[in-house]
This record gives sequence, C-alpha cells and structure tokens, in this order.
Amino acid sequence: MTTSEMIPKLTLNNGHVMPVVGMGTTEFPTTLTPPLLKSVYLDAIAIGYRHFDTASLYQTEQPLGEAIQEAIKLGLIGSREELFITSKLWCTENHPDLVLPSIQSSLRNLKTDYLDSYLIHMPFSVKAGARDFPFPIKREDVVPLDLKGVWKAMEECQRLGLTKAIGVSNFNTRKLEELLAFAKIPPAVDQVEMNTSWQQQKLKEYCAKKGICITAYSPLGGQGSQELVGINPVLTSDVLKEIADAKGKTTAQIALRWLVEQGVSMVVKSFNKERLQQNLEIFDWELAEEERQTISKIPQKNRVSVDFMLAKEGSLNSIDISDIEINEV
Ligand code: A2P
Repeated sequence: MTTSEMIPKLTLNNGHVMPVVGMGTTEFPTTLTPPLLKSVYLDAIAIGYRHFDTASLYQTEQPLGEAIQEAIKLGLIGSREELFITSKLWCTENHPDLVLPSIQSSLRNLKTDYLDSYLIHMPFSVKAGARDFPFPIKREDVVPLDLKGVWKAMEECQRLGLTKAIGVSNFNTRKLEELLAFAKIPPAVDQVEMNTSWQQQKLKEYCAKKGICITAYSPLGGQGSQELVGINPVLTSDVLKEIADAKGKTTAQIALRWLVEQGVSMVVKSFNKERLQQNLEIFDWELAEEERQTISKIPQKNRVSVDFMLAKEGSLNSIDISDIEINEV
C-alpha cells in the first residue's frame, strides 16, 4: 500500500470523500517565498499528502496551484481529481454578491475547475475593500454578516459545480444552529481550532449529531509567537511526551493520533520534509484507553480568538461580540 492509500478517508454528508489528514499551507508570518512554498507542496505530494488546505487570505493558492500542475507533469499524481482541495472565503468577501467572484478568483489561482470544499472563513464580515490585513482588523470595519445571503451564494457555488462541498470555519454551535435553520444544503465541514489542549467536546458532539465533519486546524497547537498567542501547549506537553516516550513515538504523533481517534479530520502544517513524513505515520498503531483517559484530563485553553484578530482600540459599532465569537461561550 502506498502512503497516500494508508490515509483513511471520511465521507462527508453529501457523499464526497476527504482524506483524514491534510496539509495546512500557510504560516504566519510568512517567511517562505512562493517558489519555496511550491517546492514544499510538491514534497508533500511526493510523500503522500492528497488533501491541501488553503484560503484567499493565505496567498498560498497560487504556489499550490503551480505545485499541482508540476506534480501532474512529473507523474506524482495522475490528475487533479486525486486531490482534495479546500479554500476559504475571507471576511472582506463575506458578502452575498462577492462569493461567486471570490471562488472564481480562488479557482484561477489554483488553476482548477473546482474545489473539493469551500468554507466561510469566519463568522463575521469586514467592510468590502478593507485591506489592512492580515491582522489586526479594525473594529470599526466589522459589519453585520448576512449569513442567509452568503450561504445562498455558497449553495449556488455548489450547484454550479465550482465546489463539491461547502462548509464553514470558526463557527461555534450557536452559529451552526443559526445556519442550519435556513440552509438548503447543510454545511459539510466546520474547520476549527482543535487539539489535545482545546478538545472541543461540545462542538464535536453537536457536529456528530448534525452530520457535520470537523476539520481540526492547529492540531499541533499552531504557530504564532508566544507573546501573541501564548506558549504552544501541545508540543510542550509533558503528558503527551510521557505517552510518546513510552510508545516510541513523538509528541506530535500522539497529538495527531488522538485527533484521528476522535473521528475528525485535520490539517497539519510542517515545512520540513521529515516532519511531514512523520505526521503521516499515525495509522498503524493506537492509543490505549488509559492514555486516552489521561489526555482527556489535560487543562483546556484556546489560542485563537476574535480578540486576537481585532485591534485593541476602536469600537464594534452595533455588533455584539458574542455574535461573532468563534469559540464556545
Ligand atoms: P515546522 O514547519 O518547522 O515543522 P499546527 O499544524 O498545529 O499549526 O502546527 C504547526 C507547527 O508545528 C509548525 O510550526 C511546525 O513547524 C511544527 N511541527 C509540525 N510537525 C511537527 C512535528 N512532527 N514535530 C514537531 N513540530 C512539528
């Protein structure tokens, strides 16, 4: 069996199939140039990654598109159909009339006719054209999200065949409930921060009930400087290290294996070939029940929050922060 064949697949609520582990394509702040990014994605395809996570925000669509073309030329994959590609609608385009042009721009960047999943990146909108990104976002620029109108446009993208599935990212149970009340096509995916230090049990149970697949981002605790988001609690966890040492695995592998056993998919980032490889070696062994119990007791703390994305100064106009909260409150 090849490495890519060893990666289990999850079937989404519309029947489309997603490899459990994907590669996160970005880093904040970005230090790699587009040619370097392209060569890392090509390495990842050669290693066996078949699921890639990008977004218009990340500016990695183009190098990913180039890597895919090159991979086909080199015979690493037979065609684009062998891949699962996710992209996302950024907040400045989180407006009904901007959804179609946004997915079309992502498709052009990626040099493909369709995405496998297209996600609303955040549960809030920012004034169209506000471009002082990535962060912080000016509080005054946050505007009410017309979720009904945006979702209708997302559904149209799926009907037009521009994406196989549609979904959301950073939605908590409250926001999902709001969406499910009017969705004609229910979201297939909710991509959220999830790892051993932010286990998302409430969201997990809710999504399981509603047939929504969770994709964990920051499965290894994520990037970002210690001053901004605090110390990475996953890779520095003594609890995980102890389990890893006892099993002859690495801390990262224990963290990823735990997610596999939670029944979710994940997008993991590494820009290092050995670690990319290591992160796929998690399918031919399992955690013991006692180890799962130990992990369930790890203290919980999220790293990504709306507060972290918004400027400290300024006011949110008439929007209640609880309405744009990305975590469970
Ligand atoms: P690097 O690119 O140097 O490998 P997340 O996927 O949770 O966002 O975390 C990604 C971070 O974890 C990156 O900084 C990445 O750095 C690091 N990382 C990825 N895989 C491993 C691994 N197997 N062991 C240690 N660190 C890893």
